[in-house]
Amino acid sequence: MTEQDIHSTPLIELTDINKYYPVGKNQLHVLKNLNLTIERGEFLMIMGKSGSGKTTLMNIIGFLDQISDGTYQFDGEDASKLSENEKSKLRNQYLGFIFQQFFLIPSLNVRQNVELPMVYSGNKKDGKRKELANHYLSLVGLEDKTHVKTTELSGGQQQRVAIARALVNDPLLIMADEPTGALDSETGQDIMNILTELNKQGKTIVMVTHDNDMRKYATRVIYMKDGLFLTEEEYLNA
Ligand SMILES: Nc1ncnc2c1ncn2[C@@H]1O[C@H](COP(=O)(O)OP(=O)(O)O)[C@@H](O)[C@H]1O
Ligand SMILES: [Mg+2]
Repeated sequence: MTEQDIHSTPLIELTDINKYYPVGKNQLHVLKNLNLTIERGEFLMIMGKSGSGKTTLMNIIGFLDQISDGTYQFDGEDASKLSENEKSKLRNQYLGFIFQQFFLIPSLNVRQNVELPMVYSGNKKDGKRKELANHYLSLVGLEDKTHVKTTELSGGQQQRVAIARALVNDPLLIMADEPTGALDSETGQDIMNILTELNKQGKTIVMVTHDNDMRKYATRVIYMKDGLFLTEEEYLNA
C-alpha cells in the first residue's frame, strides 16, 4: 500500500449494519440497515431525539457493543475479527470518550483521572504521564486544578477534565455522547468551543446530540430517527 492508499482508507466504515436487542421473547430492532462512513478530520454530528439509537451506534463504533449483522471496518480492519483484548487495546489507544455524565473517578484527583488511560495502556513512565496530563489539562484551561478533587469542580470543569482524559493517548477519534447534556448553555458553549478548536487542529470527532443548536459546530450533520438515517428535511418535518 502507498501512503496515498493508507490515507484514503476511511477511519470508520459501517455497511448495512443492524442491531437487535433481545427484549423478553422478542427482538427490538434498534439500528436498521445503516451505512455510515467517517473520514479523518471530520466533526460529524449525529442528531436525533431520545430513543433514536444514537448511543447504541456510538457503543458499536467504540467497540463497547457489537452489531447483529453487517460489517464494521475500523481504519480498514474488520472489527468482527478482533478479540476482546484487541478491542480493549483499540479503545484505549485510538479512541477518546466523552460522556454526558463525565464519569470521572471521585477518589482520584484531577491529574490522576487524566493519567488513567495512560496507566491502562502501560506504555508511559510516571514522569512522562504527569507531564502529558499537565499538558492536556493546560490545554483545557485547568492547569491550576491538577491536585483538586473532581467533586470540588463545576460541571463544566469536570467535562474539561474528561476532555483532557480523552485526549491524553492522542486518539484517532474523539467520541462524545451528549457532552453538553448536563451543562447550562453557556458552559456547553465553552465545551463546544474546545471541541471545535481540537477539530480545527485535525482531531476527528463524532458527537451525538438531540440539540439542533449544536449543528453549527459540525462539519457534517446526519439525522436519525427510530434507528434510521433521515435527510435534514425529513428530520425537521417529522
Ligand atoms: N441494552 C438494551 N437492551 C434493550 N433495549 C435497549 C438497550 N439499549 C438501548 N435499548 C433501546 O434501544 C433504543 C435506542 O436506545 P439508545 O441507543 O440509547 O438511543 P438514544 O441514545 O438515541 O437515546 C431505545 O428504544 C432503547 O430503549
Ligand atoms: Mg443516548
